[in-house]
Amino acid sequence: MLGWRQIWSQSSHGSHSRVEDKRILLIIGGGIAAYKCLELIRRLRERGASVRVVMTAAAQHFVTPLSVSALTNEPVFTDLFNLDDEREIGHIRLSRDADLILVAPATADLIAKMANGLANDLASSVLLASDKPPLIAPAMNPRMWLNPATQRNVRVLKADGARFIGPESGEMAERDEAGPGRLAEVPVLIEAIEEVSDARRLATTVGAAGPLHGLHVVVTSGPTHEPIDPVRYIANRSSGKQGHAIAAATAAAGARVTLITGPVNLPDPTGAETIKVETAEEMLAATERALPADIAVFCAAVADWRIAEQGTQKIKKKKGEPPPALKLVANPDILKTIAGRKKGRPDLVIGFAAETENVLQHARKKLNSKGCDWIVANDVSAESGVMGGDHNRVHLIRKDGHESWKQQSKEDVATALVEEMAREVESSKTKAAGSRSARVKLGKS
Ligand SMILES: Cc1cc2nc3c(=O)[nH]c(=O)nc-3n(C[C@H](O)[C@H](O)[C@H](O)COP(=O)(O)O)c2cc1C
Repeated sequence: MLGWRQIWSQSSHGSHSRVEDKRILLIIGGGIAAYKCLELIRRLRERGASVRVVMTAAAQHFVTPLSVSALTNEPVFTDLFNLDDEREIGHIRLSRDADLILVAPATADLIAKMANGLANDLASSVLLASDKPPLIAPAMNPRMWLNPATQRNVRVLKADGARFIGPESGEMAERDEAGPGRLAEVPVLIEAIEEVSDARRLATTVGAAGPLHGLHVVVTSGPTHEPIDPVRYIANRSSGKQGHAIAAATAAAGARVTLITGPVNLPDPTGAETIKVETAEEMLAATERALPADIAVFCAAVADWRIAEQGTQKIKKKKGEPPPALKLVANPDILKTIAGRKKGRPDLVIGFAAETENVLQHARKKLNSKGCDWIVANDVSAESGVMGGDHNRVHLIRKDGHESWKQQSKEDVATALVEEMAREVESSKTKAAGSRSARVKLGKS
Protein backbone atom coordinates (compact mmCIF):
# COMPACT_ATOMS: atom_id res chain seq x y z
CA MET A 1 0.00 0.00 0.00
CA LEU A 2 1.22 3.46 -0.80
CA GLY A 3 2.03 5.79 2.08
CA TRP A 4 0.50 9.23 1.83
CA ARG A 5 3.94 10.67 1.10
CA GLN A 6 4.24 8.53 -2.03
CA ILE A 7 0.68 9.17 -3.06
CA TRP A 8 1.24 12.89 -2.69
CA SER A 9 4.42 13.03 -4.67
CA GLN A 10 2.96 10.84 -7.38
CA SER A 11 -0.26 12.74 -7.55
CA SER A 12 0.66 16.38 -7.41
CA HIS A 13 4.32 16.89 -8.04
CA GLY A 14 5.42 14.41 -10.62
CA SER A 15 6.81 15.43 -13.96
CA HIS A 16 3.29 15.76 -15.43
CA SER A 17 1.44 19.02 -15.70
CA ARG A 18 -0.73 19.58 -12.65
CA VAL A 19 -3.85 19.82 -14.84
CA GLU A 20 -3.04 17.01 -17.25
CA ASP A 21 -6.18 15.03 -18.08
CA LYS A 22 -8.34 17.38 -16.02
CA ARG A 23 -11.75 18.14 -17.46
CA ILE A 24 -12.38 21.82 -17.02
CA LEU A 25 -15.75 23.41 -17.62
CA LEU A 26 -15.33 27.09 -18.42
CA ILE A 27 -18.38 29.30 -18.15
CA ILE A 28 -17.88 32.54 -20.05
CA GLY A 29 -20.00 35.52 -19.01
CA GLY A 30 -20.81 38.64 -21.02
CA GLY A 31 -17.96 41.02 -20.22
CA ILE A 32 -15.26 42.79 -22.19
CA ALA A 33 -12.64 40.46 -20.65
CA ALA A 34 -14.22 37.42 -22.36
CA TYR A 35 -11.51 37.65 -25.04
CA LYS A 36 -8.89 36.64 -22.44
CA CYS A 37 -10.58 33.23 -22.24
CA LEU A 38 -9.23 32.37 -25.67
CA GLU A 39 -5.70 32.62 -24.33
CA LEU A 40 -6.71 30.74 -21.16
CA ILE A 41 -8.15 27.87 -23.20
CA ARG A 42 -4.93 27.62 -25.26
CA ARG A 43 -2.72 27.53 -22.17
CA LEU A 44 -4.90 24.92 -20.44
CA ARG A 45 -4.93 22.69 -23.50
CA GLU A 46 -1.17 23.04 -23.83
CA ARG A 47 -0.97 21.60 -20.30
CA GLY A 48 -3.02 18.57 -21.27
CA ALA A 49 -6.39 19.65 -19.84
CA SER A 50 -9.59 19.29 -21.82
CA VAL A 51 -11.81 22.36 -21.81
CA ARG A 52 -15.53 22.43 -22.39
CA VAL A 53 -17.22 25.80 -22.64
CA VAL A 54 -20.65 27.16 -21.81
CA MET A 55 -21.24 30.70 -23.07
CA THR A 56 -24.02 32.99 -21.90
CA ALA A 57 -26.07 34.84 -24.51
CA ALA A 58 -24.26 38.06 -23.54
CA ALA A 59 -20.83 36.40 -23.82
CA GLN A 60 -21.50 35.70 -27.48
CA HIS A 61 -21.53 39.46 -28.14
CA PHE A 62 -17.89 39.59 -27.07
CA VAL A 63 -16.37 36.39 -28.50
CA THR A 64 -17.89 33.97 -30.98
CA PRO A 65 -18.68 30.35 -30.17
CA LEU A 66 -16.84 29.55 -33.40
CA SER A 67 -13.49 30.88 -32.08
CA VAL A 68 -14.01 29.13 -28.75
CA SER A 69 -14.95 25.87 -30.40
CA ALA A 70 -11.90 26.03 -32.69
CA LEU A 71 -9.66 26.32 -29.64
CA THR A 72 -11.39 23.71 -27.47
CA ASN A 73 -11.97 21.30 -30.34
CA GLU A 74 -15.40 20.66 -28.83
CA PRO A 75 -18.87 22.04 -29.46
CA VAL A 76 -19.68 25.11 -27.38
CA PHE A 77 -22.78 24.93 -25.23
CA THR A 78 -25.05 27.95 -25.28
CA ASP A 79 -28.67 26.91 -25.02
CA LEU A 80 -30.53 25.28 -22.15
CA PHE A 81 -33.27 24.12 -24.50
CA ASN A 82 -31.10 22.72 -27.25
CA LEU A 83 -32.56 19.23 -27.51
CA ASP A 84 -29.51 17.71 -29.16
CA ASP A 85 -27.27 18.86 -26.36
CA GLU A 86 -29.85 17.75 -23.79
CA ARG A 87 -30.06 14.28 -25.29
CA GLU A 88 -26.32 13.88 -25.73
CA ILE A 89 -25.02 15.66 -22.66
CA GLY A 90 -27.58 17.74 -20.77
CA HIS A 91 -26.92 20.45 -18.27
CA ILE A 92 -26.61 18.09 -15.30
CA ARG A 93 -23.97 15.97 -17.00
CA LEU A 94 -22.10 19.04 -18.18
CA SER A 95 -21.49 19.96 -14.56
CA ARG A 96 -20.96 16.41 -13.25
CA ASP A 97 -18.49 15.46 -15.98
CA ALA A 98 -16.20 18.33 -15.04
CA ASP A 99 -13.37 18.03 -12.53
CA LEU A 100 -13.47 21.76 -12.02
CA ILE A 101 -15.79 24.60 -13.01
CA LEU A 102 -14.37 28.06 -13.68
CA VAL A 103 -16.56 31.10 -14.31
CA ALA A 104 -14.52 33.69 -16.21
CA PRO A 105 -15.26 36.46 -16.68
CA ALA A 106 -17.87 36.25 -13.94
CA THR A 107 -20.17 39.20 -14.58
CA ALA A 108 -22.01 41.03 -11.80
CA ASP A 109 -25.13 39.42 -13.25
CA LEU A 110 -23.78 35.86 -13.12
CA ILE A 111 -22.51 36.40 -9.57
CA ALA A 112 -25.96 37.65 -8.53
CA LYS A 113 -27.62 34.65 -10.13
CA MET A 114 -25.26 32.19 -8.45
CA ALA A 115 -25.66 33.83 -5.04
CA ASN A 116 -29.44 33.62 -5.33
CA GLY A 117 -29.78 30.21 -6.92
CA LEU A 118 -31.29 31.37 -10.22
CA ALA A 119 -31.27 28.94 -13.11
CA ASN A 120 -32.89 30.65 -16.08
CA ASP A 121 -30.24 29.88 -18.70
CA LEU A 122 -27.70 27.15 -19.41
CA ALA A 123 -24.79 28.75 -17.48
CA SER A 124 -26.77 29.36 -14.28
CA SER A 125 -28.52 25.95 -14.50
CA VAL A 126 -25.18 24.15 -14.83
CA LEU A 127 -23.81 26.08 -11.85
CA LEU A 128 -26.85 25.34 -9.70
CA ALA A 129 -26.72 21.65 -10.64
CA SER A 130 -23.02 21.39 -9.83
CA ASP A 131 -21.79 19.16 -6.99
CA LYS A 132 -18.53 21.10 -6.49
CA PRO A 133 -17.91 24.74 -5.55
CA PRO A 134 -16.88 26.79 -8.59
CA LEU A 135 -13.84 28.96 -9.12
CA ILE A 136 -15.07 32.46 -9.89
CA ALA A 137 -12.96 35.08 -11.67
CA PRO A 138 -14.95 38.33 -11.64
CA ALA A 139 -14.45 41.14 -14.13
CA MET A 140 -16.50 44.29 -14.16
CA ASN A 141 -16.45 48.03 -13.75
CA PRO A 142 -15.07 48.98 -10.28
CA ARG A 143 -18.38 50.59 -9.27
CA MET A 144 -20.24 47.40 -10.15
CA TRP A 145 -17.71 45.39 -8.12
CA LEU A 146 -17.81 47.71 -5.11
CA ASN A 147 -21.60 48.04 -5.18
CA PRO A 148 -22.96 46.70 -1.87
CA ALA A 149 -25.24 44.31 -3.78
CA THR A 150 -22.28 42.67 -5.56
CA GLN A 151 -20.23 42.58 -2.35
CA ARG A 152 -23.18 40.97 -0.55
CA ASN A 153 -23.43 38.32 -3.28
CA VAL A 154 -19.69 37.66 -3.10
CA ARG A 155 -19.90 37.12 0.67
CA VAL A 156 -22.76 34.65 0.20
CA LEU A 157 -20.84 32.69 -2.44
CA LYS A 158 -17.64 32.61 -0.37
CA ALA A 159 -19.63 31.31 2.60
CA ASP A 160 -21.02 28.61 0.30
CA GLY A 161 -17.47 27.50 -0.53
CA ALA A 162 -16.86 29.25 -3.87
CA ARG A 163 -13.32 30.42 -4.43
CA PHE A 164 -12.68 33.85 -5.96
CA ILE A 165 -9.66 34.65 -8.11
CA GLY A 166 -9.25 38.41 -8.25
CA PRO A 167 -10.47 40.78 -9.45
CA GLU A 168 -7.25 42.68 -9.91
CA SER A 169 -6.98 46.43 -9.67
CA GLY A 170 -5.90 48.68 -12.51
CA GLU A 171 -7.02 50.53 -15.63
CA MET A 172 -10.36 49.42 -17.07
CA ALA A 173 -11.34 49.13 -20.72
CA GLU A 174 -13.53 52.21 -20.28
CA ARG A 175 -11.61 55.50 -20.44
CA ASP A 176 -10.74 57.17 -17.13
CA GLU A 177 -11.97 54.21 -15.10
CA ALA A 178 -9.59 52.45 -12.71
CA GLY A 179 -9.93 50.34 -9.59
CA PRO A 180 -10.75 46.75 -8.63
CA GLY A 181 -12.52 44.89 -11.41
CA ARG A 182 -9.98 43.57 -13.91
CA LEU A 183 -10.06 39.87 -14.72
CA ALA A 184 -7.08 38.09 -13.12
CA GLU A 185 -4.31 37.49 -15.65
CA VAL A 186 -4.16 34.10 -17.38
CA PRO A 187 -1.11 32.78 -15.37
CA VAL A 188 -2.91 33.64 -12.12
CA LEU A 189 -6.03 31.80 -13.30
CA ILE A 190 -3.94 28.77 -14.26
CA GLU A 191 -2.13 28.77 -10.91
CA ALA A 192 -5.46 28.76 -9.07
CA ILE A 193 -6.80 25.94 -11.27
CA GLU A 194 -3.64 23.93 -10.59
CA GLU A 195 -3.89 24.47 -6.85
CA VAL A 196 -7.51 23.37 -6.74
CA SER A 197 -6.70 20.32 -8.87
CA ASP A 198 -3.85 19.35 -6.52
CA ALA A 199 -6.00 19.76 -3.43
CA ARG A 200 -8.94 17.82 -4.85
CA ARG A 201 -6.73 15.03 -6.18
CA LEU A 202 -5.07 14.64 -2.82
CA ALA A 203 -8.37 14.73 -0.98
CA THR A 204 -9.74 11.94 -3.15
CA THR A 205 -6.55 9.85 -2.95
CA VAL A 206 -5.83 10.03 0.75
CA GLY A 207 -9.42 10.68 1.80
CA ALA A 208 -10.69 13.33 4.15
CA ALA A 209 -8.51 12.01 6.96
CA GLY A 210 -5.18 13.33 5.67
CA PRO A 211 -2.08 13.11 7.86
CA LEU A 212 -2.79 16.47 9.51
CA HIS A 213 -6.51 15.81 9.92
CA GLY A 214 -7.88 17.21 13.18
CA LEU A 215 -5.03 19.71 13.63
CA HIS A 216 -5.16 23.49 13.43
CA VAL A 217 -2.22 25.02 11.58
CA VAL A 218 -1.53 28.77 11.50
CA VAL A 219 0.64 30.00 8.61
CA THR A 220 1.91 33.54 8.03
CA SER A 221 2.90 34.64 4.55
CA GLY A 222 3.94 37.59 2.40
CA PRO A 223 5.56 40.88 3.30
CA THR A 224 4.26 43.50 5.67
CA HIS A 225 3.72 47.11 4.63
CA GLU A 226 4.73 49.72 7.18
CA PRO A 227 3.13 53.08 6.39
CA ILE A 228 5.17 56.27 6.17
CA ASP A 229 2.08 58.38 5.54
CA PRO A 230 -1.36 57.61 4.02
CA VAL A 231 0.15 57.03 0.55
CA ARG A 232 3.67 55.66 1.12
CA TYR A 233 5.02 52.61 2.88
CA ILE A 234 8.13 50.51 3.49
CA ALA A 235 7.91 46.97 2.14
CA ASN A 236 10.12 44.07 1.03
CA ARG A 237 10.26 41.77 -1.97
CA SER A 238 8.46 38.76 -0.46
CA SER A 239 5.82 37.46 -2.90
CA GLY A 240 4.03 35.17 -0.44
CA LYS A 241 4.41 32.21 -2.85
CA GLN A 242 6.16 29.97 -0.30
CA GLY A 243 3.80 30.74 2.59
CA HIS A 244 0.71 30.34 0.41
CA ALA A 245 2.04 27.02 -0.92
CA ILE A 246 2.49 25.83 2.69
CA ALA A 247 -1.06 26.89 3.57
CA ALA A 248 -2.40 25.01 0.51
CA ALA A 249 -0.34 21.90 1.29
CA THR A 250 -1.31 21.77 4.97
CA ALA A 251 -4.98 22.22 4.04
CA ALA A 252 -4.69 19.46 1.44
CA ALA A 253 -3.19 17.23 4.16
CA GLY A 254 -6.42 17.61 6.13
CA ALA A 255 -5.54 20.37 8.61
CA ARG A 256 -7.78 23.30 9.46
CA VAL A 257 -5.60 26.14 8.24
CA THR A 258 -5.58 29.82 9.11
CA LEU A 259 -3.40 31.79 6.73
CA ILE A 260 -2.47 35.28 7.86
CA THR A 261 -1.02 37.17 4.94
CA GLY A 262 0.44 40.55 4.21
CA PRO A 263 -0.32 42.24 0.87
CA VAL A 264 0.34 39.79 -1.99
CA ASN A 265 -0.82 39.36 -5.54
CA LEU A 266 -1.89 35.73 -5.17
CA PRO A 267 -5.24 33.96 -5.00
CA ASP A 268 -6.31 32.74 -1.56
CA PRO A 269 -5.23 29.10 -1.19
CA THR A 270 -7.94 26.50 -1.36
CA GLY A 271 -9.15 25.18 1.94
CA ALA A 272 -7.48 27.81 4.15
CA GLU A 273 -9.21 30.60 6.00
CA THR A 274 -7.29 33.62 4.76
CA ILE A 275 -6.91 36.72 6.94
CA LYS A 276 -5.41 39.77 5.23
CA VAL A 277 -3.31 42.25 7.16
CA GLU A 278 -0.85 45.01 6.27
CA THR A 279 1.50 45.74 9.16
CA ALA A 280 3.60 43.62 11.53
CA GLU A 281 1.48 44.75 14.47
CA GLU A 282 -1.70 43.65 12.67
CA MET A 283 -0.06 40.33 11.78
CA LEU A 284 0.83 39.63 15.42
CA ALA A 285 -2.68 40.56 16.60
CA ALA A 286 -4.28 38.30 13.94
CA THR A 287 -1.90 35.45 14.85
CA GLU A 288 -2.74 35.71 18.54
CA ARG A 289 -6.45 35.79 17.72
CA ALA A 290 -6.04 32.66 15.56
CA LEU A 291 -4.57 30.61 18.46
CA PRO A 292 -4.84 27.97 19.85
CA ALA A 293 -3.06 26.05 17.12
CA ASP A 294 -1.20 22.75 17.03
CA ILE A 295 1.39 23.93 14.52
CA ALA A 296 2.47 27.46 13.54
CA VAL A 297 4.60 28.20 10.49
CA PHE A 298 6.02 31.72 10.33
CA CYS A 299 6.90 32.21 6.71
CA ALA A 300 6.02 35.91 6.38
CA ALA A 301 8.82 38.40 5.76
CA VAL A 302 7.84 40.68 8.62
CA ALA A 303 9.41 44.14 8.57
CA ASP A 304 11.86 44.48 11.46
CA TRP A 305 11.08 48.16 11.80
CA ARG A 306 8.25 50.58 11.33
CA ILE A 307 8.16 54.35 11.11
CA ALA A 308 8.18 55.92 14.58
CA GLU A 309 5.71 58.64 13.69
CA GLN A 310 3.55 58.04 10.65
CA GLY A 311 2.34 61.15 8.84
CA THR A 312 -1.40 61.55 9.14
CA GLN A 313 -1.34 63.54 5.85
CA LYS A 314 0.85 63.02 2.78
CA ILE A 315 4.30 64.40 3.64
CA LYS A 316 4.95 67.32 1.29
CA LYS A 317 8.17 68.05 -0.55
CA LYS A 318 9.31 71.49 0.56
CA LYS A 319 11.50 73.55 -1.74
CA GLY A 320 14.95 74.22 -0.34
CA GLU A 321 14.49 71.80 2.59
CA PRO A 322 16.39 68.50 2.91
CA PRO A 323 14.39 65.28 2.51
CA PRO A 324 12.67 64.16 5.72
CA ALA A 325 14.62 61.70 7.90
CA LEU A 326 12.65 58.59 8.73
CA LYS A 327 13.02 57.47 12.33
CA LEU A 328 12.40 53.74 12.76
CA VAL A 329 11.30 51.74 15.78
CA ALA A 330 11.39 47.96 16.24
CA ASN A 331 8.35 45.94 15.27
CA PRO A 332 7.12 43.14 17.52
CA ASP A 333 8.97 39.85 16.94
CA ILE A 334 6.06 37.57 16.02
CA LEU A 335 8.04 34.31 15.97
CA LYS A 336 9.71 34.95 19.32
CA THR A 337 6.47 36.14 20.91
CA ILE A 338 4.51 33.03 19.91
CA ALA A 339 7.39 30.56 20.48
CA GLY A 340 7.95 32.06 23.94
CA ARG A 341 4.33 31.84 25.12
CA LYS A 342 4.04 30.11 28.48
CA LYS A 343 0.40 29.26 27.84
CA GLY A 344 -1.06 28.28 24.51
CA ARG A 345 2.22 27.79 22.64
CA PRO A 346 1.63 25.68 19.51
CA ASP A 347 3.23 22.23 19.90
CA LEU A 348 5.40 22.78 16.84
CA VAL A 349 6.66 26.28 16.01
CA ILE A 350 8.47 26.63 12.68
CA GLY A 351 10.25 29.83 11.70
CA PHE A 352 11.71 30.87 8.36
CA ALA A 353 15.08 32.55 8.11
CA ALA A 354 15.76 34.60 5.00
CA GLU A 355 19.50 35.14 4.82
CA THR A 356 21.80 36.64 2.24
CA GLU A 357 25.07 35.19 3.65
CA ASN A 358 26.25 32.50 6.11
CA VAL A 359 22.78 31.01 5.81
CA LEU A 360 23.23 27.98 8.10
CA GLN A 361 25.15 29.81 10.77
CA HIS A 362 22.64 32.68 11.01
CA ALA A 363 19.70 30.34 10.91
CA ARG A 364 21.03 28.20 13.75
CA LYS A 365 21.51 31.35 15.83
CA LYS A 366 17.92 32.32 15.03
CA LEU A 367 16.66 28.89 16.16
CA ASN A 368 18.28 29.39 19.55
CA SER A 369 17.39 33.04 20.06
CA LYS A 370 13.72 32.75 19.00
CA GLY A 371 12.89 29.61 20.96
CA CYS A 372 11.24 27.88 18.00
CA ASP A 373 11.46 24.16 17.21
CA TRP A 374 12.57 24.25 13.58
CA ILE A 375 13.96 26.86 11.25
CA VAL A 376 13.60 26.65 7.50
CA ALA A 377 16.51 28.66 6.16
CA ASN A 378 16.78 29.97 2.66
CA ASP A 379 19.26 32.04 0.74
CA VAL A 380 17.46 35.15 -0.46
CA SER A 381 20.46 36.90 -1.96
CA ALA A 382 19.68 38.56 -5.31
CA GLU A 383 21.56 35.78 -7.19
CA SER A 384 19.38 33.05 -5.63
CA GLY A 385 16.20 34.39 -7.30
CA VAL A 386 14.17 33.11 -4.33
CA MET A 387 12.34 36.36 -3.52
CA GLY A 388 9.42 36.46 -5.95
CA GLY A 389 10.71 33.35 -7.82
CA ASP A 390 9.03 29.95 -8.13
CA HIS A 391 11.85 27.83 -6.68
CA ASN A 392 13.55 27.56 -3.35
CA ARG A 393 16.52 25.76 -1.86
CA VAL A 394 16.11 25.39 1.87
CA HIS A 395 17.81 23.84 4.88
CA LEU A 396 15.62 22.40 7.64
CA ILE A 397 17.35 23.08 10.95
CA ARG A 398 16.33 21.31 14.15
CA LYS A 399 17.92 21.41 17.57
CA ASP A 400 19.83 18.20 16.83
CA GLY A 401 20.98 18.76 13.25
CA HIS A 402 20.00 19.92 9.83
CA GLU A 403 19.08 18.64 6.37
CA SER A 404 19.79 20.51 3.13
CA TRP A 405 17.09 19.99 0.54
CA LYS A 406 17.61 20.17 -3.18
CA GLN A 407 16.48 23.16 -5.24
CA GLN A 408 12.80 22.55 -6.00
CA SER A 409 9.53 24.35 -6.65
CA LYS A 410 7.98 26.20 -3.73
CA GLU A 411 5.05 23.75 -3.89
CA ASP A 412 7.48 20.85 -3.50
CA VAL A 413 9.19 22.57 -0.55
CA ALA A 414 5.72 22.97 1.01
CA THR A 415 4.90 19.30 0.40
CA ALA A 416 8.19 18.13 1.90
CA LEU A 417 7.69 20.36 4.94
CA VAL A 418 4.18 18.99 5.45
CA GLU A 419 5.64 15.48 5.32
CA GLU A 420 8.06 16.44 8.08
CA MET A 421 5.20 17.88 10.15
CA ALA A 422 3.20 14.68 9.69
CA ARG A 423 6.19 12.61 10.77
CA GLU A 424 6.63 14.79 13.87
CA VAL A 425 2.94 14.43 14.73
CA GLU A 426 3.19 10.64 14.38
CA SER A 427 6.31 10.42 16.52
CA SER A 428 4.84 12.56 19.30
CA LYS A 429 1.71 10.37 19.27
CA THR A 430 3.93 7.30 19.61
CA LYS A 431 5.94 8.94 22.42
CA ALA A 432 2.73 9.95 24.23
CA ALA A 433 1.39 6.40 23.97
CA GLY A 434 4.76 5.05 25.22
CA SER A 435 4.87 7.29 28.27
CA ARG A 436 1.24 6.44 29.11
CA SER A 437 2.04 2.73 29.09
CA ALA A 438 5.25 3.39 31.12
CA ARG A 439 3.19 5.25 33.73
CA VAL A 440 0.74 2.35 33.85
CA LYS A 441 3.63 -0.09 34.44
CA LEU A 442 5.00 2.13 37.22
CA GLY A 443 1.54 2.34 38.80
CA LYS A 444 1.37 6.10 38.29
CA SER A 445 -1.60 6.22 36.02
C1 LIG B 1 -19.81 46.76 -23.87
C2 LIG B 1 -20.27 46.07 -22.63
C3 LIG B 1 -19.36 45.61 -21.74
C4 LIG B 1 -19.76 44.98 -20.56
N1 LIG B 1 -18.82 44.53 -19.70
C5 LIG B 1 -19.22 43.95 -18.53
C6 LIG B 1 -18.25 43.47 -17.61
O1 LIG B 1 -17.04 43.55 -17.84
N2 LIG B 1 -18.68 42.91 -16.47
C7 LIG B 1 -20.01 42.78 -16.18
O2 LIG B 1 -20.35 42.30 -15.09
N3 LIG B 1 -20.95 43.20 -17.04
C8 LIG B 1 -20.58 43.77 -18.21
N4 LIG B 1 -21.55 44.21 -19.10
C9 LIG B 1 -22.94 43.98 -18.79
C10 LIG B 1 -23.33 42.53 -19.06
O3 LIG B 1 -23.05 42.16 -20.40
C11 LIG B 1 -24.81 42.32 -18.73
O4 LIG B 1 -25.02 42.51 -17.34
C12 LIG B 1 -25.29 40.95 -19.15
O5 LIG B 1 -26.66 40.82 -18.79
C13 LIG B 1 -24.49 39.86 -18.47
O6 LIG B 1 -25.02 38.62 -18.85
P1 LIG B 1 -24.40 37.25 -18.38
O7 LIG B 1 -24.09 37.40 -16.92
O8 LIG B 1 -25.49 36.25 -18.63
O9 LIG B 1 -23.22 36.99 -19.23
C14 LIG B 1 -21.14 44.83 -20.29
C15 LIG B 1 -22.07 45.27 -21.23
C16 LIG B 1 -21.64 45.88 -22.37
C17 LIG B 1 -22.68 46.35 -23.35
